[in-house]
Amino acid sequence: MENTQEIVRKKRALSCIQPTGIPTLGNYLGALRNWVDLQDELECFFAVADLHAITVRQEPAKLRQHTYEMFALLMAIGLDPEKSLLFVQSQVPTHTELSWLLSCNTQFGELSRMTQFKDKSQKHADNINLGLFAYPTLMAADILLYQPEFVPVGADQKQHCELTRDIATRFNGQYGQTFTVPEPYIMKTGARVRSLQEPTKKMSKSDENQNSFISLQDDKDTIIRKFKRAVTDSEACVRYAEGKDGINNLMEIYAAVTDKSLEAIEAEFAGRGYGDFKLAVGEAVAAELAPIQERFATLMKDKAQLDALMKVGAERAYLVSRRTVEKAKKRMGFLLTK
Ligand code: TYM
Repeated sequence: MENTQEIVRKKRALSCIQPTGIPTLGNYLGALRNWVDLQDELECFFAVADLHAITVRQEPAKLRQHTYEMFALLMAIGLDPEKSLLFVQSQVPTHTELSWLLSCNTQFGELSRMTQFKDKSQKHADNINLGLFAYPTLMAADILLYQPEFVPVGADQKQHCELTRDIATRFNGQYGQTFTVPEPYIMKTGARVRSLQEPTKKMSKSDENQNSFISLQDDKDTIIRKFKRAVTDSEACVRYAEGKDGINNLMEIYAAVTDKSLEAIEAEFAGRGYGDFKLAVGEAVAAELAPIQERFATLMKDKAQLDALMKVGAERAYLVSRRTVEKAKKRMGFLLTK
């Protein structure tokens, strides 16, 4: 019989998260949770983007601790290092290397249009550093190194993903096919979880008002209290409609956590007040987070094991990514050691 068997590589996904503190429910619903769903279908690469974190000032001891915590959290949410490649960005030197090559193929004007740069440079006006400006080229390097088809992120990262596509397309056009041009992969529910206190803004762990976000480490009482205090409106009717940003946000969170449709949620709470609804959202979120918190606490007890897993991840990531850097360098005219 003719051997028609071909080695077809699984499609790939890559994404990263910054270790800038315990992530929020926004990070979880917008990104992390979807990563777990992808790991059985795709060949997945997930990293802790510690190099991105230093675009704003970090205390070294905290950065170290947060990097361990984020790595442990990736496993606590259900990512399995046997199935997905988990690593820490700064432990894989190809990221900074490709970033430089891409920087020289990215225009000042393109980077100036990035809304995150505009927001962050306003927020950190005393530290508008070169890295903050060049941040998207490092992100493009993170992605393109692994030749993924998909980049699962929340809606706020869409602009950076589009810039990555532009950089890859331009590079391929100029030097020949080098990079897979990836698609952002954004879920419908949970892609833009908003602040509980100012529901027109995104939920963010750097928000000074602790009541505005749910941290993945919050205990049940804290979660319920924060939802109780969430800003809503005076209509007292659980329905999804324009102008009801607070209720829309809570409904989206509840929908994402329970897998119920917005219509089913409206029916469930018909004739009931916001108090009941907020309690139900709080309880559903607390129930989703409890097992993650338990696994996280266990994983954090063994830093030697985390170090060992990081090492394996970094070595494997280096092997994959080195091929892309070498290809890019060759295409650009650099001499490789022989
Ligand atoms: P970061 O660390 O800010 O956020 C990690 C992921 O969480 C998503 N996210 C949200 N989703 C829904 N609602 C929210 N309120 C919310 N807040 C955050 C983000 O969209 C993201 O998917 N630059 C990236 C990290 C990065 C990266 C990469 C991502 C570095 N290199 C390569 C993808 C590919 C960042 O700062 O995400």
